[in-house]
Amino acid sequence: MHVRKVVVPVAGWGTRSLPATKNVPKEILPVFKKPAVQYIVEEAIQADLSDVVFVNHQNKTIIEDHFDYNLALESLLERTGKQDLLKQVRHVAEMVNIISVRQKKQLGLGHAVLCAKEVVKQEPFAAIVGDDLMFSPVPGIKQLLDVAESEQMAVVGVMPVSGSKVSNYGIIDAEEIAPHMYRVKDLQEKPTPERAASNLAITGRYILTPDVFEHLQELNTPDRKEEIQLTEALRAMARKDRLLAVRLWGMRFDIGNWVDYLTANIYFGLQDEEVRDDLVQRLQEILPCPE
Ligand code: G1P
Repeated sequence: MHVRKVVVPVAGWGTRSLPATKNVPKEILPVFKKPAVQYIVEEAIQADLSDVVFVNHQNKTIIEDHFDYNLALESLLERTGKQDLLKQVRHVAEMVNIISVRQKKQLGLGHAVLCAKEVVKQEPFAAIVGDDLMFSPVPGIKQLLDVAESEQMAVVGVMPVSGSKVSNYGIIDAEEIAPHMYRVKDLQEKPTPERAASNLAITGRYILTPDVFEHLQELNTPDRKEEIQLTEALRAMARKDRLLAVRLWGMRFDIGNWVDYLTANIYFGLQDEEVRDDLVQRLQEILPCPE
């Protein structure tokens, strides 16, 4: 199994982050010095994925623009001798091959993945949800790729979440077959805590085989009113015994959640030598003193 492409659905409205996202895509909101989506692209590059397929909406093409040249800016930086900044902005344009497809209607994550079918064709591919950041010495998507390649099967990344949070995620019903590796028997999309089969939540990282498109196609009926869930297509793969899950390790931030978004900014600020000491001091100034 050789995976080259990563599908990144970014067409969503980002309503959880309003009013900040009224005109700015949530994927472009900065996390410390970079837009959130750049961390996802960098994770893909670290896993040797060479082609990023953005599934996008007509109002959000600023996402693709970020990974393109900005010649006017480059010329200004060159004229003013800002070589270091020039290097940084050029690097973003040269880091990866970008392919863009349109999701003309916002019909859910499964529909977004289906929109990439003509680009992905009959190859296995990775998918990363555009607002789910992960950091660890082995990138999250690479942890899944290693298992998908050795087991020749589709794999979803999961992490344990606390009780009430299960209703925000896809949840797996699975049997552990090796440390941190599971055979998925079934899945539930955003179950109530009472109904959840486990606390292992899908973290927006997938290695998928092209048969997922057939399952998504079956769900994509012309009279369909509600969203097409990727989880529904994964259920069909699990029923055929063709789906594994891997418990990912690392730090995860859901940038559509304000606490995670702010924590991610502080996390990166604390890692930057130039910023760390001043940041710690300012945080101490604003944190209330313990009684
Ligand atoms: C989607 C998936 C869900 C998954 C989540 C991870 O939900 O449908 O199964 O757990 O991404 O971020 P969304 O957050 O788009 O509602």
